[in-house]
Amino acid sequence: MKVAIDCDDAAVNLKKVLVDHLKAKGVDVTDLGYGNSKEGSLYPEIGYNLAVKLKEKEFDRGILICGTGLGMAMIANKVEGIFAGTCHDVFSAERIRKSNDAQIITMGERVIGPELAKTVIDAWLTSEFQGGGSTSKVQQMRDLEKDSFHP
Ligand code: RB5
Repeated sequence: MKVAIDCDDAAVNLKKVLVDHLKAKGVDVTDLGYGNSKEGSLYPEIGYNLAVKLKEKEFDRGILICGTGLGMAMIANKVEGIFAGTCHDVFSAERIRKSNDAQIITMGERVIGPELAKTVIDAWLTSEFQGGGSTSKVQQMRDLEKDSFHP
């Protein structure tokens, strides 16, 4: 599984913690470093850049971090085919994979501490879409999304 990660200027420390953690676990993680390549870049362009790479199948999963995680989730969800949500607890991190089939998890460095963040990411990484009763619900999101993107 290829994982992309990025952050804005509010989450540089947590991104480093998570990159080190994932690399130590042998996860194939790529720090896109959009903010390093473009000084003064803001969370919308950083989140959009990662979400488009997922849409184009360059990566399988993505982690976006900002101050709260909220802005990153909002912008990632504006890319067609991409589902993202903010999770700061293990249960939500599992459900966003198992029930919602989201490719992107977002977090806020101003909300969560590094140790809990690592645990939440581990739960998210090891959870897969469960299908079953969730399949028609996710499909309905995809159908409604088509209406919205292609009215
Ligand atoms: C800081 O720019 C802050 O607004 C951002 O990191 C994020 O929390 C937005 O949702």
